[in-house]
Amino acid sequence: MRLRVVGIVVRRVLITGVAGEVGSSLVEYLSRAGGYSITGFDLRKPSKEIEELCSSIAVGDIADATLVSSLGDGLPYDTIFHLAGILSSGGERAPLKAHEVNVSGTLNILELSRKHSTALGRPVKVIFTSTIAVYGVSSISQKRSAGRVREAECLTPITMYGANKLYCESLGRYYSENFGMLEQRNDGVRPDFRAVRFPGLLSAHTLPTGGTSDYAPEMVHAAAQGVSYSCFVRPDSRIPFMMMPDAARALVMLSEADATRLTQRVYNVGGFAPSAREIGVLLSEFFPSTTITYEVHPSRQAIVDSWPEDVDDSAARRDFGWEPLYSFESGFADYLLPAVRARYAASGSEISLYRMAAN
Ligand code: SER
Repeated sequence: MRLRVVGIVVRRVLITGVAGEVGSSLVEYLSRAGGYSITGFDLRKPSKEIEELCSSIAVGDIADATLVSSLGDGLPYDTIFHLAGILSSGGERAPLKAHEVNVSGTLNILELSRKHSTALGRPVKVIFTSTIAVYGVSSISQKRSAGRVREAECLTPITMYGANKLYCESLGRYYSENFGMLEQRNDGVRPDFRAVRFPGLLSAHTLPTGGTSDYAPEMVHAAAQGVSYSCFVRPDSRIPFMMMPDAARALVMLSEADATRLTQRVYNVGGFAPSAREIGVLLSEFFPSTTITYEVHPSRQAIVDSWPEDVDDSAARRDFGWEPLYSFESGFADYLLPAVRARYAASGSEISLYRMAAN
């Protein structure tokens, strides 16, 4: 439902997982852009700063079908950014819970989008955060030879999270293209599902909860706070990463892309692909007293080893003009390090380090 406020079109947007790190960053991005009325949904309230940028906040469980179907108060959303989920390490600690949140939660959102598309008389866009965890390479040598994987390659995930996300991509495609295909009904409008497969994300302001790419942001935040860090993967471990502002940009760029230009529903988006050692070396240039040791956690190492070294994002570049703003070096120098320095200089050890130890 596009609301017109003195000639300005305001798009109604729902963001699930709004209290998480991608959610917060997306709210800030959309607020700066202007023209959005944002409803945030999460299990817990977001920070006060994020809450103030939203028009409304709904608190509850994404797996609660009745609650999710009531979102919108009768007014359909134009776009739903569905970010809520349990990440790869969290998912291995509670696999059934992960399935419920990741799969049932997505099903509930797709049902909501179907209902809202029909009410609007045009497709509601569902922008879904998928992940490099949908990929699975069977050995380090396969990882090396696979190089930058394309969307249709190596789709044998080893985690509950990866399996959930891969299935939900199919579910989204089904809701957009074939839902109820034998019913031949003409009274329903199908949603427009689109997904980005994110690499590991690096934010200056938050730490992720329960991911396996977490060693990289944890290293950065530990170095900025002057504490030593024990990395849970080998120094030669390599997967793709992206700076958080680019992640929010990718979601918005995909949401705004002209449907006629999109040749697929699921896109890789890449940034840079350093090894853990290369991250440590770059950090020590900025924080010379930083100490990083390596104490491998076998299961988390196996997860990182199953993910590709990098992704081929040429389809996203071609179809919706994707290009990251930040490279590895410029992202650290221009975004991450100035912001983490300022943060810890101003507030001391504000981000708790307990998660770093919780292998
Ligand atoms: N950041 C995710 C995780 O570590 C992967 O996309 O689970």
